[in-house]
Amino acid sequence: MADGETIYLKDYKPFGWIIDDVHLTFRLHPTATRVISRIRFRPDYDVHDRPFFLHGEGLKTISIKVDGHEPKIYEEPGGIEVDVPHAPFNWECEVEINPQDNTALEGLYMSNGMYCTQCEAEGFRKITWYPDRPDVMAQFTVRIESTQEHTPVMLSNGNGLLYHTDLTQDQTPNYTIYQDPWPKPAYLFALVAGDLIAHEDKFTTMSGKEVDLAIWVRPGDEDKCAFGMEALKKSMKWDEDIYGREYDLDEFNIVAVDDFNMGAMENKGLNIFNSSCVLASPETSTDMNFERIEAIIAHEYFHNWTGNRITCRDWFQLCLKEGLTVFRDAQFTADMRSAPVKRIDDVIALRGRQFREDNGPLAHPVRPDSFVEINNFYTATVYEKGAELIGMLKTLVGDDAYTKALDLYFDRHDGDAATIEDWLKVFEDTTGRDLSQFKRWYEQAGTPRLSVKDDFNDGSYTLTFKQQTPPTPGQEMKDPRVIPIAVGLLNPNGDEVQDTTVLEMTEAEQSFTFEGLATKPVPSILRDFSAPVILEQDTDTATNAFLLANDTDPFNRWQAGDNLALETLLAMIRDGAAPSSAYLDALHTLLRDDTQDPAFRALALGLPSQDELAQTLFDQGQTPDPDAIYEALETLKQVRAEAYQDTITRLHAQYQVTAAYAPNAEQSGTRSLANAAMSMLNRLDGGHLAQEQFDHADNMTQQLSALGALISAGNGADAVTRFYEQWQHDRLVIDKWFSAQIIHAAPSDAATIAARLTEHPDFTIKNPNRFRATLGALTMSGAGFHQRSGAGYQLLADNLIALDPLNPQTTARMCTAFESWKRYDTTRQDLIKAQLERILATPDLSRDSTEMLTRILG
Ligand code: BES
Ligand code: ZN
Repeated sequence: MADGETIYLKDYKPFGWIIDDVHLTFRLHPTATRVISRIRFRPDYDVHDRPFFLHGEGLKTISIKVDGHEPKIYEEPGGIEVDVPHAPFNWECEVEINPQDNTALEGLYMSNGMYCTQCEAEGFRKITWYPDRPDVMAQFTVRIESTQEHTPVMLSNGNGLLYHTDLTQDQTPNYTIYQDPWPKPAYLFALVAGDLIAHEDKFTTMSGKEVDLAIWVRPGDEDKCAFGMEALKKSMKWDEDIYGREYDLDEFNIVAVDDFNMGAMENKGLNIFNSSCVLASPETSTDMNFERIEAIIAHEYFHNWTGNRITCRDWFQLCLKEGLTVFRDAQFTADMRSAPVKRIDDVIALRGRQFREDNGPLAHPVRPDSFVEINNFYTATVYEKGAELIGMLKTLVGDDAYTKALDLYFDRHDGDAATIEDWLKVFEDTTGRDLSQFKRWYEQAGTPRLSVKDDFNDGSYTLTFKQQTPPTPGQEMKDPRVIPIAVGLLNPNGDEVQDTTVLEMTEAEQSFTFEGLATKPVPSILRDFSAPVILEQDTDTATNAFLLANDTDPFNRWQAGDNLALETLLAMIRDGAAPSSAYLDALHTLLRDDTQDPAFRALALGLPSQDELAQTLFDQGQTPDPDAIYEALETLKQVRAEAYQDTITRLHAQYQVTAAYAPNAEQSGTRSLANAAMSMLNRLDGGHLAQEQFDHADNMTQQLSALGALISAGNGADAVTRFYEQWQHDRLVIDKWFSAQIIHAAPSDAATIAARLTEHPDFTIKNPNRFRATLGALTMSGAGFHQRSGAGYQLLADNLIALDPLNPQTTARMCTAFESWKRYDTTRQDLIKAQLERILATPDLSRDSTEMLTRILG
């Protein structure tokens, strides 16, 4: 438990005590909030004589009493050990904390004059002495008193019992009482108090119970809640329809806060959201924002069952709730919108973030076996790969068995703090399968390489696969995993001769034969991306073009186009080749075909990211040059614009949405195709169309894409000024303004512009959204971040050093921008290494950043 000490899964021990109930009183004060706790503990007689240890951090203790007497207290790293009787006893304690000065945004803090909390993973220990571990579950009653502040609204978990709303500031006391009937771990505790306005609604559950719903926001934001409320009701209904899960309290509250490290948090009955993840209006939010808001509201709501009713025994089991809940929110989005588009988007994100993590110094298993700072393990691996594992399980056992297993999971483990073993056992008991090999997916880090060869002989067609996973830090050898490989076979005339079938690979090398085929088929392998692997397949250009035109699996159709683009770009970068006409023609055919979904065509126009190209080159034994990658991407974009000029001119005109703005999948797909066409034409028309769109846009999707196009074309100065003037009152739109100027800048200017923006009066290091909009945008700018002078690295390092003492969690997270440093040339490696070492040498650097930098340096 000492600072910087490694914690191991194998060392898990239960707390040793059981809590009957917790009573908390908060006397709110900006700099001196008093927290009074009354807790009944009794020994857990199943656990032999454990010391009584409570976590606590930065607490000013006023008094501690055990059964009315002052106990002996021993200070330990991270908490206290207290002499208590080995019998039931009453704990009474008063501490003082300072929300105003809490810039780390963990525990109780203030954001724009409002009190709020963030306790996951280990923030409750900054509120009071407590066994702050997820396997300690208790019923909480919370009384909030506000004597000096204007806090007309005060909320906590569960149901509001008593609400003394006295809106006049000078009359005291002003208090409220909340009771949560469901036992919960401390990380799900929440408190909010401030001057807030509710957007209210109601939902009737499947058993006929009425639930009061509210989204609480600061005055001025109340017209940005309607979309979130609809998303919430859809989520509640969907979880009833698809998983049979009903809501279990009389009220459900969502609160929007401006200063928040993450996207949102699933506190029982009181979800707290980063305002960027809940507030929405057509004028201020893009189509992508709307989709993300819908997904994240669903995600946090779904945690009520997968996370809250069934929680995690310890933080090593994080994927138990996060992987499953990401999987559930993806299913929800697929149902609400377009399933293929959602799948393609998710795979792009997985390859962009998780594959990079898995192939670098930060690689770790979906269920890690050790950590120093748990906040550093809220990663793409735990979340996104964790969700892929659920998808693979479902593919392996089938939809019906999946449903039965989930019913059993909810039934058997309701109220538990569970483990991955519990989760897998439910599937084993439901299906009779042995999942011990599947478990390797949770235990082994690294992305498997899956190579395939085929052979056709006398009517039999054989696919031979080999799997191999490269070593990752601390794991040299990897055992073969079970891989569900969804395969279809097409006739050369385009008909499907074998519809999707799932091959179950269990060996390092394995063959599968299809009999009775008249001609050699064209295989479509890893349909719908049935496993998170890197598929190594020698598919020639003509076959990829054939699959792009004919595959019945939409994901693999997109994949074929992506393969073509990748092949062309690699040849351009490596050999200075010209863009291949096979690629240009195949894509053109698709673009022209108006029977094809506009959203799909827009996705097909996407190109592999700078990062994916760098990783692919590196895997092939080359040293990626960010400038060369940027040049190749630019050249290809220019060549495509010229080659498709007539088509994109037509598409741009034809796919303008004329109906009133709606953030649905159909309109958003149409806009994304028209905007893709606009940004291509922008290379040919000197920014004419973009300017026109910027001048007339009545929604943020159109306005922001035009702004980006104008900046890219180098004539955005006027639009940048006007955008700022129009939106300076709206912090979320101004975040977009900061980002756009950096993301769309020429690489040679990106760091200079980012540096200048950090001097802007609206820049503040204390707001994570603004910090990410500026420095995060720089790291996403590819060649801009990696410019040879090292200016990008230096700027990021300067800002990380400044942020670390204020907000370690966000600092550590942003250190990952350096994680792939060993891919690059020695000049860049030396520049990055110097910055990593400079940050690491900062006196009193946080445990969060220290762990991250040490691992990145390797
Ligand atoms: N439980 C997390 C929020 C969280 C993460 C709290 C890390 C403390 C530390 C929440 O359910 C979550 O996963 N939020 C995601 C968004 C989601 C849609 C994947 C987030 O905040 O990014
Ligand atoms: Zn989550």
